[in-house]
Amino acid sequence: MQLINMTTYSSCAKKLLFIYYLFIISSFCIFNFSYGRNLNPNFRVKAVNLGGWLLTEGWIKPSLFDGIPNKDFLDGTQLQFKSVTVGKYLCAELGGGNIIVANRTDASGWETFKIWRINSTTFNFRVFNKEFVGIDGSGNVVALENKAGNSETFEIVRNSDDPNRVRIKSTNGFFLQVKTEELVTADNGGNGGWGDDDPSVFIIKTSGRLEGEFQITNGYGPIMAPQVMREHWRTYIVEEDFKFIASNGLNAVRIPIGWWIASDPTPPKPYVGGSLHALDNAFLWARKYGLKVIIDLHAAPGSQNPWEHSSNRDGTIEWGKTDDTIQQTVEVIDFLTARYAKNPSLYAVELINEPLAPEVTLDMVKKLYQDGYNAVRKHSSTAYVVMSNRLGSPDATELLTFASGLKGSVIDVHYYNLFSNIFDNMSVQQNLDYVNTNRTDQLNTVTQSNGPLTFVGEWVAEWQVRDATKEDYQKYANAQLEVFGRATFGWAYWTLKNVNNHWSMEWMIKNGYIKL
Ligand SMILES: *[C@@H]1O[C@H](CO)[C@@H](O)[C@H](O)[C@H]1NC(C)=O
Ligand SMILES: *[C@@H]1O[C@H](CO)[C@@H](O)[C@H](O)[C@H]1NC(C)=O
Ligand SMILES: *[C@@H]1O[C@H](CO)[C@@H](O)[C@H](O)[C@H]1NC(C)=O
Ligand SMILES: *[C@@H]1O[C@H](CO)[C@@H](O)[C@H](O)[C@H]1NC(C)=O
Repeated sequence: MQLINMTTYSSCAKKLLFIYYLFIISSFCIFNFSYGRNLNPNFRVKAVNLGGWLLTEGWIKPSLFDGIPNKDFLDGTQLQFKSVTVGKYLCAELGGGNIIVANRTDASGWETFKIWRINSTTFNFRVFNKEFVGIDGSGNVVALENKAGNSETFEIVRNSDDPNRVRIKSTNGFFLQVKTEELVTADNGGNGGWGDDDPSVFIIKTSGRLEGEFQITNGYGPIMAPQVMREHWRTYIVEEDFKFIASNGLNAVRIPIGWWIASDPTPPKPYVGGSLHALDNAFLWARKYGLKVIIDLHAAPGSQNPWEHSSNRDGTIEWGKTDDTIQQTVEVIDFLTARYAKNPSLYAVELINEPLAPEVTLDMVKKLYQDGYNAVRKHSSTAYVVMSNRLGSPDATELLTFASGLKGSVIDVHYYNLFSNIFDNMSVQQNLDYVNTNRTDQLNTVTQSNGPLTFVGEWVAEWQVRDATKEDYQKYANAQLEVFGRATFGWAYWTLKNVNNHWSMEWMIKNGYIKL
């Protein structure tokens, strides 16, 4: 009922607006400045995300990483080192700010070292408390510095017969060695072979990886990265894709981008220029095929979540911790809105994607959402302004009062029957029930009269059900289309293309799993 009231109200207002626009257009024959807003209140975005295009996510197209030299060792790769002589793991004692020891039989947080890649063989290692592994004045291995300098830089030398056997060489010319479980030093000559009796040999285990834009551009390095990325941008999404989208019942695209696009053609290292040109093309094609564009700032400076899709270097969230990163984010939004405000396809600007609570606080996002909203409004009175709910927040309504004061605001929620153990053993029917009952409830909770519009900006017809039939998938997709179709702004499928078939809307449409 709430919905009907709201719709009726805005329907009247919009009819008046419509008549007003007709008047303006016919009297003065000026170009339409109602762009961005659709005059039909029943209009709903039926969009597909263009994931993995202008913002890399390795799992969407793994082959993009194939040409990286030593591609096991990318930024953010989490390594654990077991000493062959004592049979125990290296550990940053107390998580950092202390010495490195080799007395742990199991490896978890304190025993995990995150790579910062300098080049294909040279790295820094960041410990749990964020200090970097280094060598102190007496040659002991420690984790004391918050910035990596020469003493915090190491070469990893791999055994060609068994690449999981490594030595770690300090810039002092010597290798690290485990003298005792409680004494690790950088004074081994490295001539002892690769056997189990050599205190400088470690067996590595990888406990986590990131494959985002930072990893791919820094991994390829300044010579190869521009070639690889520009080729990808030019060929992965093309005009034909926009034609396909428009002719299969969709009316919009949500395009994830990273903050560095605003400093094209010379973004800060390791990023590569040229993605702005690709975004320009997207707007040209969107216009040609009558599609709307939702610009989605998926990666904000400092990273607003620990995942590769925020272009995180090593999983650390820095966004919002200084006003600088918020201000810089607002400048990116300002730049993009100014650039595309006159294009009739610009429909909405999403200020940030999936900020993660509690590291990203409500105050931080509210500051961005207020300042970002103003930045959009500086250039466009009509583009919708999309505000992503904080992932991990216990209260899905936390932004509603705030956003309801901002005309044309939209709350973005992402609904996946994945990423939580509540879905682990659900049957097909239980998944359908969850969509019909629980998602409906969740969506109703955020859809309030006089509140912001609601947008299911990401969902997918994938689940944890094994051996589901095509018909099961069709039912599941239809249930979601039905429920998410009630979101007052609309929905967007994740994503258009993906090597994992169910995550590829293109594949799902072409193979008859989804029909709109
Ligand atoms: C990597 O960087 C180190 C330190 O700057 C340098 O000595 C080495 O030659 C570089 N290696 C490659 C493969 O570029
Ligand atoms: C490892 O060595 C450190 C430093 O001597 C010591 O404080 C710690 O208790 C030891 N831990 C284990 C599990 O032996
Ligand atoms: C799912 O089922 C497996 C096997 O029966 C069980 O071990 C596991 O605990 C279940 N997971 C949840 C979250 O209930
Ligand atoms: C879904 O909603 C029903 C009805 O409100 C509730 O009983 C059930 O616990 C919910 N399921 C989950 C997995 O949260």
